[in-house]
Amino acid sequence: MVCLGNICRSPLAHGILEYKIKLNKLDNIEVDSAGTGSWHIGNKPDQRSIEIANKNGISIQNQRARQITAVDLIEFDVIYAMDSSNYKDIKKLDSSEKNQHKIKLILDEVNSVNNNNVPDPYYGGDNGFEHVFELLDKACNSIIKNLKDE
Ligand code: 4NP
Repeated sequence: MVCLGNICRSPLAHGILEYKIKLNKLDNIEVDSAGTGSWHIGNKPDQRSIEIANKNGISIQNQRARQITAVDLIEFDVIYAMDSSNYKDIKKLDSSEKNQHKIKLILDEVNSVNNNNVPDPYYGGDNGFEHVFELLDKACNSIIKNLKDE
């Protein structure tokens, strides 16, 4: 799960998917998150993300931000970008171009959305975080469904 800062959107996506994986007893699936940027390395998720996750019974407060590296593109099977800007930046990391097929926009997992970018809630109010949570919850439900069908 990758966004820009790894403190707002991708920690939520990480926490939600991990929670649903446990709930559905889908073993041996590792979830992680990272940012394309380096500003927040080592930081906890944004308090507003921690709060919306808590409100939904999910704990993300022990996560710490890190920056995505080219090694992640080798080690992980799927890389979900939160928006098209993150998507382009991740693609640029893959200099061999061998792993381009692993890189996806997370909202492409949801059929019913017109805009497939998860909006960046960083400079907005709390309701931006609720909206982000709802979008990511839907996307993670689709991911789980696909994993179960595999
Ligand atoms: P995120 O949100 O990419 O969802 O973690 C942001 C967090 C921090 C900044 C931008 C977006 N920032 O500019 O510091």
